[in-house]
Amino acid sequence: MSVPSLPVDGEGFLLRPWRIEDAAALVLHANDEAVSARLSDRFPFPYSADDAMRFLAQSVEPPALNLAIEIDGGAVGGIGLRPGKGELRIGAHFGYWLGRRYWGRGIMSRIVPVWSAHVFACFGFERLHTTVFANNPASARVLEKSGFVREGTLRRAAIKGSEVFDLWMYAMIRPEAPVRRHGPLQ
Ligand SMILES: CC(C)(COP(=O)(O)OP(=O)(O)OC[C@H]1O[C@@H](n2cnc3c(N)ncnc32)[C@H](O)[C@@H]1OP(=O)(O)O)[C@@H](O)C(=O)NCCC(=O)NCCS
Repeated sequence: MSVPSLPVDGEGFLLRPWRIEDAAALVLHANDEAVSARLSDRFPFPYSADDAMRFLAQSVEPPALNLAIEIDGGAVGGIGLRPGKGELRIGAHFGYWLGRRYWGRGIMSRIVPVWSAHVFACFGFERLHTTVFANNPASARVLEKSGFVREGTLRRAAIKGSEVFDLWMYAMIRPEAPVRRHGPLQ
């Protein structure tokens, strides 16, 4: 796979840095309990205009760790990285979401492999990892189709509302490939 730089122009989507002008589209797609239900509590519901501005204010500065997923000319979802700290700085946690009207069309299965190639090429992380609520088989399927490996289960590790969930741990380690290091690893 060739190494994409930003914006990443994929099949039916564009990955690009967030812009302050995305605020209305962000609220439109993010303010949905079905989206937030399987994400970290950092992604609130309801998702207000203030939530959008807070997120955008911290996302628009380079390096672009959080990217907007643009489809049909508008931001309809996001995919983002949180680099580890201290001895864990060689890895990064990531998360993604898509507005509900775009689910089930194979979109995230096309995005994740392109995005992970971009991240490994640009940031030089050794490892990308995420956790998936055990009631989210669609996300697990996206990750497995994208080459991520389920490394284990964190049993009864998370609570949403009053329901306790196992978390599946997924990771990919850096493939042997040329690396342009300009990320936050130093
Ligand atoms: C999870 C999410 C990103 C998936 O995006 P998407 O573009 O709809 O996913 P895709 O269409 O590319 O692929 C979904 C896959 O899961 C499968 N799937 C869907 N529901 C499923 C279920 N209940 N059980 C098993 N597999 C399921 C689909 O069949 C498809 O696999 P296939 O291509 O082999 O048929 C999207 O639903 C979303 O944004 N959800 C809310 C936020 C979220 O959960 N983020 C991930 C946090 S880890």
